[in-house]
Amino acid sequence: MSTPLRLGIAGLGTVGTGVVKIVRRHKELLSARTGREIVISAISARTRDKDRGVSLSGYEWEDDPVALARRDDVDVFVELMGGSDGPAKAATEAAIEAGKDVVTANKAMLALHGQALAEAAEAKNLLIRFEAAVAGGIPVVKTLTEGLTGNEMTRVMGVMNGTCNYILTRMENAGLSYEEVFEEASQLGYLEADPTLDVGGIDAGHKLALLAAIAFGTRVSFDAMELEGIERITIADIRQAADMGYRIKLLGVAQKTGRGLEQRMSPCLVPTGSPLGQLENAANMAVLEGDAVGQIVLRGAGAGEGPTASAVMADILDIARGIRVPTFGRPAAQLEKPVAARSAMPAPYYLRMELEDKPGALAKVAAILGTAGLSINRMRQYGHTQTTAPVLIVTHKAQREAVDTALEALEKTDVVAGRPVALRIEDV
Ligand code: HSE
Repeated sequence: MSTPLRLGIAGLGTVGTGVVKIVRRHKELLSARTGREIVISAISARTRDKDRGVSLSGYEWEDDPVALARRDDVDVFVELMGGSDGPAKAATEAAIEAGKDVVTANKAMLALHGQALAEAAEAKNLLIRFEAAVAGGIPVVKTLTEGLTGNEMTRVMGVMNGTCNYILTRMENAGLSYEEVFEEASQLGYLEADPTLDVGGIDAGHKLALLAAIAFGTRVSFDAMELEGIERITIADIRQAADMGYRIKLLGVAQKTGRGLEQRMSPCLVPTGSPLGQLENAANMAVLEGDAVGQIVLRGAGAGEGPTASAVMADILDIARGIRVPTFGRPAAQLEKPVAARSAMPAPYYLRMELEDKPGALAKVAAILGTAGLSINRMRQYGHTQTTAPVLIVTHKAQREAVDTALEALEKTDVVAGRPVALRIEDV
């Protein structure tokens, strides 16, 4: 058997603890599969004296993750602290400087600094691996960088925030409001410390930006992502969508278009019978489309101790086996700078607005839509109050710019109350 692979693990929260448990539980199995012993040399976390349900005896302790990253008895620095900057980034940079490969679950750090970090690592023939950063236990990074590497990728889609999928499916199944289910998700501990990361689509957007870089050979460009959260989705939207054969999902879509790279994370309507439409609770799904393979669907747990630790281990074991695929599937320095294209592909849109219940109101709305170049496919009024009536309109295929022009004009009229909601109907 060759020399052991020695790990330094920074961060002993849910994921870090899960990794320690697997290394201990599957000692023989991991050696048998890689031909090397996988050992933990040292660990680091914010709190030392905490019962994590696993013995940490036998591991050296470092208070400072940067010191951990630099240790001579560490071959792979395993960064599981989280946070886009601060200690996670400092320790990752220190690890690269000290000549260590890095395995991380940190989507925020890579979405914002992945390009620079990967270039720095690759300049020294080192790796940064991040399977656990995207869709938890689903091996989507490996599928893209290895399994589908013979394809030109045409589109990458995903529901990659379990909390949002939990909220949307729970609203539907229990008939509860967004606010009620948000509170429930909070009680269950599903929400990030800053819940906007989840419900604002940011966490899922980070993940999509990483997949887009691999799929399309472009530099990670989270800044160019169109982001919209689920905060304005009502139970009425969900019910109306269901009535038309759709479900609402916080869906990420990345594709190359004639106008450039389109990347968006937003609530969309998808057909109820599609794999994405059937995704329940906190599950994640990645849908990958390649010119040769067609469509691949991967479904699984996007968070949690076991699934995320499973993904971290996959990266560690690849390093143990000597598998050295660059971070984004090709050398980072060769990734192209993408031209950002905002919702370049036309699609039908679902529009919902509160209309004053008075003569001529609907005529004004129809005129605005017509002027913006939007053609109405279906329309419905429901649930009148004393003075207003919600109106739903499904348009024929339209460009997003036309929808935005119409929304702006609708907001300015005296017959529409508040901001209308516009959701894209995605062809999945
Ligand atoms: N908060 C994320 C989710 C998990 O709900 O899917 C970590 O990215």
